[in-house]
Amino acid sequence: MSITLETDRLILKPVGPADLDAHCNMMADPASAEFLTRDGKPQPYHADWRSYASLIGHWEIRGFGFFSMFEKNTGEWVGRTGPWMPAGWPELECGWAVAKPHWGKGYAPEAAIATIRWTFEQQPALPRIISLIDPKNQNSQAVAQKIGETRTDEIYMYEGTLPLNIWACLREEWLARFGA
Ligand SMILES: CC(C)(COP(=O)(O)OP(=O)(O)OC[C@H]1O[C@@H](n2cnc3c(N)ncnc32)[C@H](O)[C@@H]1OP(=O)(O)O)[C@@H](O)C(=O)NCCC(=O)NCCS
Repeated sequence: MSITLETDRLILKPVGPADLDAHCNMMADPASAEFLTRDGKPQPYHADWRSYASLIGHWEIRGFGFFSMFEKNTGEWVGRTGPWMPAGWPELECGWAVAKPHWGKGYAPEAAIATIRWTFEQQPALPRIISLIDPKNQNSQAVAQKIGETRTDEIYMYEGTLPLNIWACLREEWLARFGA
């Protein structure tokens, strides 16, 4: 995929094979895994490998998906964000994850805003974008607030057992605030 998005400090490109190890390194960190894996713990490398392959495959099937985030000034891979809607998902979601050494820099909201803008542009009939967030995940709720999402009173039961809050932004309201 040759799509490239640019923010003040980041370059965003669709996840690809070159970023596999950086992504697996992030997922091997317990702080990253806490709200991203089913049991909240790092998975073995082969499981992270398969998960990452599904991020790449999502682009092939849907024509959209997670973007890798690279620092402009170093070229370093710092995380991933973007639209995600695998089979069975309740609605199109914007997700985010940043490698622990890069927490506290404001990269997640900066990148998420760019990918939400891109997603609304690509999908003119899409009424809203959601984020599924564990109520214990304070960092992620802070990101959702910064990017103009609000918590709805809807709950999604992930795999039938894990209740996640549905945060959402509505197309027209969001574009009025963050549109180009
Ligand atoms: C969720 C996650 C991406 C949040 O990362 P984060 O770095 O804490 O959040 P932000 O990118 O918003 O950065 C936060 C801080 O950067 C600071 N910062 C420094 N420079 C900044 C700049 N130039 N612009 C904006 N913020 C800046 C801000 O002060 C901000 O702190 P504040 O929230 O107290 O104001 C991260 O915790 C993570 O990857 N978690 C694991 C994966 C996960 O849970 N994903 C979500 C699943 S739903």
